[in-house]
Amino acid sequence: DPHEWVAPAATDVRSPCPGLNTLANHGYLPRTGKNISIPMILQAAMDGFDVGPGAIIQAAKFGLLSGDAPTTMDLDALKLHNLIEHDASISRNDLAVTGDNLHFNETIFTTLANANPGVDYYNATSAAHVQDERLAISLATNPHVTNTPKEVEVRTRESGLCLSVMGDPLTGVAPRQFVQIFFQEERLSIAEGWKRSTPTITAETLDPIHDTILSVTNWTYTQRCEDLVLEP
Ligand code: HEM
Ligand code: MG
Repeated sequence: DPHEWVAPAATDVRSPCPGLNTLANHGYLPRTGKNISIPMILQAAMDGFDVGPGAIIQAAKFGLLSGDAPTTMDLDALKLHNLIEHDASISRNDLAVTGDNLHFNETIFTTLANANPGVDYYNATSAAHVQDERLAISLATNPHVTNTPKEVEVRTRESGLCLSVMGDPLTGVAPRQFVQIFFQEERLSIAEGWKRSTPTITAETLDPIHDTILSVTNWTYTQRCEDLVLEP
């Protein structure tokens, strides 16, 4: 099976993104993690997750700015701070706190692991609480924290993508076990019963989940930024 899960080899590189890493660990992206083009990302996201291009094209385009190659990127370069990579991640530490904003961190992940107690799923409401809790920790512990409207937008999109890919993209409900395996092992939990999403995850299916997260979160900015221009 060309899409069997294989742990990265010592010379393979991975990113701060559990989504891209999972696609590479299953061979939807090159297992080396190197020289990855936007068309390769869009195809991998469709084949591996049923994520359509409209849901991730902006992130993919930003990704090209992480290195010098004109049309490709390496996964590890995506750790470039404040390009896409931001503080108050749900599975990685802040760059200024430990110097490692790239690798999965079990302590950071505790917030999500313990969220929505008493039930076996996560949803947009629990994701909003996780975002608030993670940001509060960063604000309290990271004197260099960046927290502008750009960060809340990126973080909210990422949480919405996670719920959609691991669960039902129409309700935003995702089984706890699938989400945990996604972060902890960067593996598709096919053996545990996970199936590739239907319908296709698009900008339109993400919108309501995104809006619910933003309406539940208590987020406020602590710095301003320029308005983000993402499309004509
Ligand atoms: C972070 C999922 C596509 C780049 C994340 C996070 C999730 C996620 C859940 C949050 C991790 C955390 O907070 O610890 C996905 C899924 C994708 C996808 C399911 C579907 C294919 C992409 C694409 C790019 C990208 C296309 C750019 C080429 C990043 C980066 C981060 C990230 C740089 C780190 C942000 C941070 O937490 O500091 N992604 N992602 N992702 N993603 Fe993705
Ligand atoms: Mg981060």
